Amino acid sequence: MTTATLVIQDAQVVTAAGHTPPVKGAAMAALQVLENGWVACVGTRIAAVGTEANVCAEVQITSDTRILCGKGKVVTPGLVDPHTHLVFAGSREEEFAQRSQGAEYMDILRAGGGILATVAQTRAASAEELYRAGHRYLDWMLRQGTTMVECKSGYGLDLMTERKQLQVVKRLHDSHAVDLTATFLGAHAWPPEYKGREEEYVDLILNEILPCIVEEGLARYCDVFCEEHVFSLAQSRRILQRASDLGLGLRVHADELTDMGGAQLAAELGAASADHLLQISDAGIQALGEAEVMPILLPATSFTLGKPYAPARGMLAAGLPLALATDFNPGSSPTPSLPLVMALGCLYLQMTPEEVLHAVTINAAHSLGCSDQYGSIEVGKQADFVVFDVDAYGKIPYFFGAPTVETVIKGGRIVVEQ
Ligand code: NIG
Ligand code: FE
Repeated sequence: MTTATLVIQDAQVVTAAGHTPPVKGAAMAALQVLENGWVACVGTRIAAVGTEANVCAEVQITSDTRILCGKGKVVTPGLVDPHTHLVFAGSREEEFAQRSQGAEYMDILRAGGGILATVAQTRAASAEELYRAGHRYLDWMLRQGTTMVECKSGYGLDLMTERKQLQVVKRLHDSHAVDLTATFLGAHAWPPEYKGREEEYVDLILNEILPCIVEEGLARYCDVFCEEHVFSLAQSRRILQRASDLGLGLRVHADELTDMGGAQLAAELGAASADHLLQISDAGIQALGEAEVMPILLPATSFTLGKPYAPARGMLAAGLPLALATDFNPGSSPTPSLPLVMALGCLYLQMTPEEVLHAVTINAAHSLGCSDQYGSIEVGKQADFVVFDVDAYGKIPYFFGAPTVETVIKGGRIVVEQ
């Protein structure tokens, strides 16, 4: 029998297992939870899960095994954040203050601030500065229980800076405990130097930037901000189609502030996810369902911008799966906290604790094509867990803002102990 390297004993274990992902519609309410559960790891992998007797029949516990007492604690899979913009320079707290006094997010962008303010700072920053900032934000995320993150470029809007951002994502993945997946988002805003000749920027993305990013293996996905005054449906389609032809998976910032038919576009192109969706139509919901595109909802963005919330209940009633993400970025969502997003999911998306837990674990992992490794506590998967200092999982969203994350285990190793 193999010797366990780490064992968690006697916890309420949210396995998020028991369904073939994606977990859809009514199934999202049926969360698999073990009372007095045990979990054992051998090295970086989960070796056994179940009762004390189940686990002791599978692995040997010796004086070399690290034991964590889980009595009165909840253990969940490491949380997965499937939509972030975490590599950027500077910050925008002045804009945050202006918005608190009534300024509109899109008006700030159209006046050259917002995303474009961060573009100017990110262009001017060295790769080392971006790496140090990104590392710090990943530390914040890890301390809130996140062990796997999707990260977009999109603060360069030129080949050199987009590459610089994506190279930083790779370096962070290689050096930080959190795992990262990179998404190219060159179509995030219009570069100021292309004012009046926007189609030329689309051509630049198609003919130069995308091929180079793919050639260098810097991204797994391509995303587009499909929105009024940003990228039209036709422009978004051209960029996403080209990315798909070059072998990238697709994600779309869709129907955030305007119903552009972004969800239908994501469905038409077989995207992995359609994100935001505050303004999605019934036809959009139906299209996502038919094409099996994961809707990723970002309630912290609605909260920050004072916008409506996506119709989560309507999507669940239509049998769709849902994932949740922070959208962590310096403008519309400066929070790195998935536990906070879970609370907003319950309070403003009318989701239940069971549904939000599926949304930040197995469904988030599914949207990133890695639910075979991440997102649930099952034998053979990555040993990524969060130990919460609460005795029932419903208290994770309930005690929002409280430092409930006690221990984080990544690849079988304790990486946070607080
Ligand atoms: O997902 N919607 C567009 N992009 C980001 C915001 C980025 C920013 O404001 O810097 C978002 O909300
Ligand atoms: Fe975003």
